[in-house]
Amino acid sequence: MNWYENMNLWSGFSEVLFTPERARAAAEVVASSPLLAFPPGSRVLDQCCGVGFFTEPMARRGYRVTGVDLHRELLERAAAVCAAAGVKASFVQADVREHVTPEAYDVVVNMYTSFGYFDDHEDNLQVLRNAHRSLAPGGRLIVDLLSKETYASWAGTPKIVDVPGGMVVMRDTILDDWARYRTDWTLVRGDRAEHASLICYVYSAAELREMFAQAGFEEIECFGTLDGGPYDARATRLIVRGIKARPA
Ligand SMILES: C[S@@+](CC[C@H](N)C(=O)[O-])C[C@H]1O[C@@H](n2cnc3c(N)ncnc32)[C@H](O)[C@@H]1O
Repeated sequence: MNWYENMNLWSGFSEVLFTPERARAAAEVVASSPLLAFPPGSRVLDQCCGVGFFTEPMARRGYRVTGVDLHRELLERAAAVCAAAGVKASFVQADVREHVTPEAYDVVVNMYTSFGYFDDHEDNLQVLRNAHRSLAPGGRLIVDLLSKETYASWAGTPKIVDVPGGMVVMRDTILDDWARYRTDWTLVRGDRAEHASLICYVYSAAELREMFAQAGFEEIECFGTLDGGPYDARATRLIVRGIKARPA
């Protein structure tokens, strides 16, 4: 089994990944981000939506949102969050390497480093191609992730994150001359320790620009924050936006 197919990894470490603080931060960013401001009623596909941290506030902002994720349990949590907030969203259980709905969306988003998971670089590119095919002409793709440049400032420094009743120790190892990295996570609670590892591609801004172009996107731009700040030495994330051209 590939690491991202392992639901135990997502549920076991959901206390680190899917925290109330992250939910609040995502809601704030959706309410204020110029990069996430679309016309009311825009059709939005949230690739790898997880528990709906971006799906729910985007639906609340008046977009018609569909979340797609591999894991039913996470989709059920996302649907429950939307129901509790009184907003409508649709959910699809699918693999983003295969999920395509031709010209059905005005916007595709892929948030919080949900990209680069596949062992084969071509599969990662396929996710961008699927987004391009799923967009109506004039539509846009926004990918938000840790890039090679932003990751380089802290990769290699082990981190400890407190979780209720325990802690998670995270250690990163750079692989294949910076093409990929491995993260080893250990959750320690009482006298029990659980371990998980994941291996991802980590792309630079230049590499992602090239991949967006290969997938058919135009007007490709990079940002360092979801406020639309520049992708410069202070950037902590990379946000890439590309447009699917309208026919001439
Ligand atoms: C880091 S989480 C981010 C989730 C969400 N975007 C957020 O901001 O909280 C990555 C998500 O990707 C999903 N995922 C992993 N591999 C996938 C695949 N092949 N197809 C669809 N979803 C996948 C996981 O189930 C998980 O929910």
